This record gives sequence, C-alpha cells and structure tokens, in this order.
Amino acid sequence: MGAAGEPKSRESVTLTDNRTGKTYELPIENGAIRAADLRNVKTSEEDFGLMSFDPAFMNTASCKSKVTFIDGDKGILNYRGYPIEQLAERSTHLEVAFLLFNGELPRKAELDAFTHEIINHTFVHENLKKFEEGFRHDANPMAMFISSVAALSTFYQDSHEIQDPQVRRQHMIRILAKVPTLAAWAHRHSLGLPYIYPDNELSFTGNFLSMIFKMSEAKYKPPVAIERAFDVLFILHADHEQNCSTNAMRAVGSSHVDPYSATAAASAALYGPLHGGANAEVLYMLREIGTKTKIPEFVKKVKTKEAKLMGFGHRVYKNYDPRARIIKKLADDVFNAVGRNPLLDIALELERIALQDDYFVSRKLYPNVDFYSGLIYQALKFPVDFFPVLFAIGRTAGWLAQWEEMLMDSEQKIARPRQLYMGSPRRDYVPMSAR
Ligand code: SDX
Repeated sequence: MGAAGEPKSRESVTLTDNRTGKTYELPIENGAIRAADLRNVKTSEEDFGLMSFDPAFMNTASCKSKVTFIDGDKGILNYRGYPIEQLAERSTHLEVAFLLFNGELPRKAELDAFTHEIINHTFVHENLKKFEEGFRHDANPMAMFISSVAALSTFYQDSHEIQDPQVRRQHMIRILAKVPTLAAWAHRHSLGLPYIYPDNELSFTGNFLSMIFKMSEAKYKPPVAIERAFDVLFILHADHEQNCSTNAMRAVGSSHVDPYSATAAASAALYGPLHGGANAEVLYMLREIGTKTKIPEFVKKVKTKEAKLMGFGHRVYKNYDPRARIIKKLADDVFNAVGRNPLLDIALELERIALQDDYFVSRKLYPNVDFYSGLIYQALKFPVDFFPVLFAIGRTAGWLAQWEEMLMDSEQKIARPRQLYMGSPRRDYVPMSAR
C-alpha cells in the first residue's frame, strides 16, 4: 500500500479519509483491493483501522480459485475453463470429477485408473447398516445422508492427516465413491427396502441407479436414457464456485478437520431450502399451485412477498442459469422414456409468465438449476425429500476439489471473520434482588 506522495500506480485506488484528510493508495489486484489494506486507514496509532462490512459476502472474494468460472450476466459456467454445455454433451461425471480434482482432462489410461479406484471403493463398512437402521422410518433422507457422511470419518482414523497428499487423495476418492452408496441406502431405508450392495460391473451412475431401483432381478440393468440423464445431472451439479455449501466446505475445512466432517458440513448447508433444498421446494410449490389457471393467483402472492418463486433467482446469475437450459432439454429425454410429468406444464407456463413480468425481469430473476431438476427426479419416482441428496452426490466432486485447493493455498488460514459489535458497553453483574 503506497503512502501519500509516492507516485500512483495505475492499478490502484486513492482513498481520502475525511476524518483526518490523509490519503491512501490501495493497490488493485485481479479486480479487487485487499480488505487488510483498509486496516492502515486510522485516525490515530491506537485506532484498530477500517474493516469492510459485507453481510452474506455480497461483494467479497474469500479466495483465489482455478476450479470454476461463472459470468452471471452472460450466463456462463466453465469447469477448469471447459464450458458446461460441452461437458454435459460429451463428458461423464467421473471424467468431470477428475478434471475438477486435477485441473486437466484425463488421458484414457488416467481415466481408466481413476474409474477403477472409484468403482472399487463403493462399499461401506457393514456397521453403517446398523447406523442407518437407527433412524425412524420417516427420517428425512438428507439428514440421514449428512449424518452418515460424518459417521464415515470414524472408520478412517488417518483421514485427519490432511497435509499428506496421498492420504488426502485417498479419502477424496473414498468420499466420492461412497456417497452414492450412503445416498441409496438412505432412500432404501425410507422405503423399508433391503439395502443393495454396489455392483462394480456397472458405471458410477449405473451402480447408483442399481442401488436405488434393484429389486428381485439377478442383475439390475440401468435404462440407457436414464443412466445418461443422471450422469449429466451429476455433471451439472458438480461445482459452482463459492456457493453457500462450498463456502461451508472451505470454512469448516480451514480448521483442518477431516474431509468427511467437512463434507457433512457442506451437505448440511446444501440442505437449506434457499440452496440445494430448492429443488424439493419447487415441487411443493408446483403441487400447491395445482393447475395452470391458479398461476396468476400464485404470482400475486410472490409479488406481495407471501411466497417465493422457488427455482428462480440467483446470487450470481442475472441471466438464465445455463444448467437450467440443459436440464430443461434433458427432461424431454427422460419424459420420453418414463412418461411426461404433468407438473411440467405448470412449470413451463410459470416460466413463460415470469420471464415477461416486470417484477421478475426487473429483479433479474430467471430459472436456476433447481427449477426443472425436481421434475425429472419426481418422474423417476424419487420422494421429493430425496432431491437434495441427488444434488449432493453431484456436488461432492466440487466440494472436494475446492477443499483441496483451499488447503494448498498459502494465503489461506483458518476462516475467522470479524464483526461490528453493536451490543451493550461493559456493565457490572446485577444480583437477582436488584433486577
Ligand atoms: C442454488 O450460489 C450458488 O451458486 C447456488 C447454486 C449452486 O449451484 O450451488 O446455484 C444452487 O442454491 C440455486 C438457488 C436455489 N434457491 C432457490 O431457487 C430459492 C429461491 N431463490 C431465492 O431465495 C434467491 O433468489 C436466492 C437465495 C437464490 C438468491 O438470493 P439473493 O441473491 O440473496 O437475492 P435477494 O434475496 O436479495 O433477492 C433480490 C430481490 C428481492 O426483492 P426486493 O427485496 O428487491 O423487492 O429479488 C427477490 C427478493 O425478494 N427475489 C425473489 C426470489 N429471489 C429473489 N422473489 C421471489 N422469488 C424468488 N425466488
């Protein structure tokens, strides 16, 4: 930070503190100023200096990252530079997970080795069956998922050795491989069905569908269109830069806890209805609307803030979420395979109305990733409260890639924000008799 009088570099802002008349030059790096530089703006030597105040981090970069790029105005989403549209069209979830972990698309031998590792780590300790059985029959599967991911850490005593690259990667592989098993078992528990063990002859996504849908047949054969649709959904949900749950993964991971506990914390953040829980909320909303004729009445409730248009709006996208566009097309493939979801007509009409209504247009509210995904899940007979679990399976790859990037970033330390204290000044304890 330059002192007053030194030549000003072009990449800087000059700040004048009107309390003292002093000026300060703050360097601009990568389109940002360092909040720490504000601490030099003081009224006296004893002064703590200025802080930046940014509730919900509306305008705060918490890290430098190379994993995912989003341009909210243009509706652009790239994983390690590759456009989501091309990855959804031509890649697979495991190839995308490799890309997120390693920064480059794998050569064939690398992908084969990575796939072999994942496919051979899909089993979980038998004790986890007893753990799952401890839940009530109507336990929310996302709550079961969060708990069982955390419970996994108790089976891997070395997982806290997060500074060892080999140990770190070994557990990243284990978590990526095992979350579909935990997810499927939570689903089977809520239906009172026996748990299905992984079938390592199937693909990552085919195996997940087998653990969900297999009944008495000797070997489950995933329908091709459904297997591909789910693989694309996992790709689309894999990462999304510093969203709420990734922020949780990084913040909790910054205390150097094991990756299972950090992933459980990220899953808990995703569970919220404003985040990954929104895909379920969209279905509840469409069911509540019931018919296209009731849409105008619902839109009125949204405008008077009695309801939110779930699946619409985004902190970053002020344009159509590119993932929503892809999922909307994917829905057609699924509905051709399993039959059209009647709620789709309400969703399409709701979108048509919202996209031409100034209330939504002026607030730049467009469909996000959650608006159409739930329709696909419901058409496949998944219970609505399982939808966030499906989101978590895809997002686990991004959480782990971001977690490792945070640990390897020399600028990162334990996440511990400051506050603006607005409470009582110091005061003495008041005995009960005097209150
Ligand atoms: C995900 O961050 C990510 O990247 C998340 C995600 C990912 O991949 O990780 O993309 C996944 O979480 C997608 C979002 C899913 N959530 C929903 O669909 C829930 C509905 N959406 C909203 O709750 C909201 O849009 C958020 C939470 C997504 C974003 O909220 P912001 O950025 O804090 O925006 P805001 O609440 O400040 O809204 C600005 C204005 C307000 O109106 P005014 O006060 O100016 O009059 O827009 C209104 C809001 O009331 N608004 C909505 C609305 N979203 C915003 N009004 C009605 N319906 C909505 N959905």
